[in-house]
Amino acid sequence: MSIFEERESNIRAYGRVYPVVFSSAKNARQIDEQGKEYIDFFAGAGVLNFGHNNSRMKKAMIEYMEKDGVLHSLDMQTTAKAHFMQRFTDVILAPRKMPHRMQFMGPTGTNAVEAAMKLARRATGRHEVVAFSHGFHGMTLGALAATANQYFRGASGVPLLHVSHEPFGCDIGGLAARYRDPSSGLEPPAAFLLEVIQAEGGVNVAGKEWLQGLAALAKELGAALIVDEIQVGCGRTGSYFSFDDMGIEPDIICMAKGIGGIGTPMAMNLVHPDLDKHWSPGEHTGTFRGQNLSFVAGAEALSYFESSELMDEVADKTRLTRQLLQPLLNSDSSLQLRGKGLIIGLDVGDGERAAAIVKRCFEDGLIIASCGSGGRVLKLIPPLTIPEDDLVEGLDILINSVRSVMEEAA
Ligand SMILES: Cc1ncc(COP(=O)(O)O)c(C=O)c1O
Repeated sequence: MSIFEERESNIRAYGRVYPVVFSSAKNARQIDEQGKEYIDFFAGAGVLNFGHNNSRMKKAMIEYMEKDGVLHSLDMQTTAKAHFMQRFTDVILAPRKMPHRMQFMGPTGTNAVEAAMKLARRATGRHEVVAFSHGFHGMTLGALAATANQYFRGASGVPLLHVSHEPFGCDIGGLAARYRDPSSGLEPPAAFLLEVIQAEGGVNVAGKEWLQGLAALAKELGAALIVDEIQVGCGRTGSYFSFDDMGIEPDIICMAKGIGGIGTPMAMNLVHPDLDKHWSPGEHTGTFRGQNLSFVAGAEALSYFESSELMDEVADKTRLTRQLLQPLLNSDSSLQLRGKGLIIGLDVGDGERAAAIVKRCFEDGLIIASCGSGGRVLKLIPPLTIPEDDLVEGLDILINSVRSVMEEAA
C-alpha cells in the first residue's frame, strides 16, 4: 500500500485517476517514477499555460533566489511586486485602457471569488449575487454558494445562501423584465458572476450578444459584473482575456491559476476604481497575498503577450486540434465539440464512458480530465506552449481511446 493510500485523506481525487507517482515534468510532458512519460492535456486545470518548468521563468526565479530576493512579504512593497505590477500595467491594462486596480489576496481562485463577492456586496449594500447554472467558482463557502455542482454543494455542511442561479445563456430580455417589474419579488443583485467559458461546467461558451445583454442589465441595475477568468484567462482562448473580443467591460475580473506563470500560487482581482474605493485598508487580508516567486515568474510570463507569437501559435494549434478531431466527430454524430482557443471540450454524452476514456488515455500516456454534468465532457487544456508533435501524439492517443471505448460499448 502506498503512503497515499495509507495516510492521505479520503478526499484525494486526481491521485486515484492517475495512480502513479510523478517525479519530473517539462513543458507538456510529465514523467513518473518508473520513467514513463505522459503528454499533459490537463496542465494543472489551467495553471500551466506556459508549460511545466518554463525555462525563462525558472531562470528568473533562480536568479531572484540567488540574490536573496524577499520571498514572503504579506502585502508589503517589494521589488518583485513592483516589477510585476508595472509589467501587468504596461502589457495588459494600458493597451486596453483599463483603469482597474490590482488586489492581491490568498493565492487560490476561490480567494479571488470571495473577495470579489464581498466587495460587490459591500459597495452596493445588497446581498444577492446572481451566478449561472454549470458555473464553478471554488470551494470556500461564499464561492461554493456560486458553484452550481450538487456534489460540491452537498459537502458544505451549512445552507449556501445569498446566491441564486439563472440558466447560463438565459433569456436576458425576460430576466430584465422581471427585474423591471416592481412586483416580481426580485431584488436587484449586488453582482452577476460568470465565466465566459465555463470550464469545469463542461466547456460551455457564452455568446457575445448574451454577454453584452448581461453587461447592460448589470449596469442598469447598478450591479457589478464579475468575470471569473481563473481557468480561461492568461491566453487560454487565444487572447489574454477570454472576453477580449466580447465588447464588455467587467467591473471585477478574478484571476488565479496561470497568473503566477510557472505554477506557483497567486490570485489577483482587477477591480474598477469606482468599486475599489469601497475597500478600507486591510479590510480583506490573507497571509499569502504577496507571493514573490509568483510575481517573478508571472512578470516573465507577460513577455508572451508583448508580441503575437504565442497567440498566433494558439490559433494554429486550435485549428490543428479541431482538424484532427473532425474525422472522429464525423464517424459518430453523438459526439460534440465545444470551446474557444485551447480549451476544447469533447462531449461523449455519458460520464462512465468519459471515465473509461480518461483511464484508457492514461494507460497509453496521456493525461486528460473530464468535466461537465456527470463528468461527460473530456476537457483538452494542454499548455499553450505544447510542441506540435506532442499535441498530435496526444490527440492520436485520445482519438484511439475514444474509438476503442465507443466500439466496446456498441
Ligand atoms: C473558473 C474557476 N473559478 C474558480 C476556481 C477555484 O480555484 P481554486 O481551486 O484555485 O480555488 C476554479 C478552479 O478550477 C475555476 O475553474
